[in-house]
Amino acid sequence: MNYENIYIEEEKSWATITIDRPSKLNALNQRTIEELNVAFKELDEDPDIKVIIITGSGEKAFVAGADISEFAHFSVKEGRQLAAMGQKNLFNLIENLTTPVIAAINGFALGGGLELALACHFRVSSTNAKMGLPEVSLGVIPGYGGTQRLPQLIGKGRALELIMTASMIDADKAFVYGLVNHVVSPEELLPLCHKLANRISNNSTVAIKHAIKAVNAGFKYDADGYAVEIDAFGHCFGTDDFKEGTSAFLEKRKADFPGS
Ligand code: COA
Repeated sequence: MNYENIYIEEEKSWATITIDRPSKLNALNQRTIEELNVAFKELDEDPDIKVIIITGSGEKAFVAGADISEFAHFSVKEGRQLAAMGQKNLFNLIENLTTPVIAAINGFALGGGLELALACHFRVSSTNAKMGLPEVSLGVIPGYGGTQRLPQLIGKGRALELIMTASMIDADKAFVYGLVNHVVSPEELLPLCHKLANRISNNSTVAIKHAIKAVNAGFKYDADGYAVEIDAFGHCFGTDDFKEGTSAFLEKRKADFPGS
């Protein structure tokens, strides 16, 4: 696929996807969602890529939401379809990806932009970021999983206040809320993500994949997280990574995981 609205840079063991529509504050139109779907799937299948970082181009925005100009005239049926397809093709895809995904929030993360960050496995923010779910100010609600993932992360009361007031919070408040794990200057944002990616890359990709699956299961109504954890834990004992990790510890050397 020829990417028009995103670009990908690969460095060492990680890839950075940059959403590149700065004149529209990187708003997520359908084309961008399709491109992200393809990019995430391809990178997830690449054994050399151990971590994916997603960010926005320019100094102003991560993503300022779904592209309002695209859905302003949608019918009920089209609205349902927009949410259902977006959830399936991008937001659920990212959450359940076996490769860890870090959101590097470099400015406005609003509506679908915050929902995109929420679908990532964790979030790092620059000091100038502003986050919120302003959908009710447009007469709609978050449709890309925001009503579910925001309360999971920051609690129901805080999430409902943010949703009902349609207000934005700054990076420091997002940190206090547990919405982002780190707040650093804009210049330090990607270097910190690279440092975290490097740390993650030193560990077993197979074990990380199972950890993501077990943690996610705890938030699914049709799954028993504890049972998924037991299965995933047991599965690890049959992997080469487990043999290497335990041998390296006992032999007092650094593990070199084969990744299987
Ligand atoms: N969808 C489509 N276009 C968007 C957009 C979105 N979600 N967010 C920003 N843009 C566009 C603007 O229309 C403008 O385009 P134009 O120059 O062709 O008119 C451009 O991006 C720059 O935005 P602008 O509003 O001029 O920047 P600002 O600094 O004055 O304000 C925001 C920044 C983020 C406060 C403002 O753009 C905004 O409120 N965006 C919508 C946020 C939102 O409601 N998101 C949820 C959608 S469900």
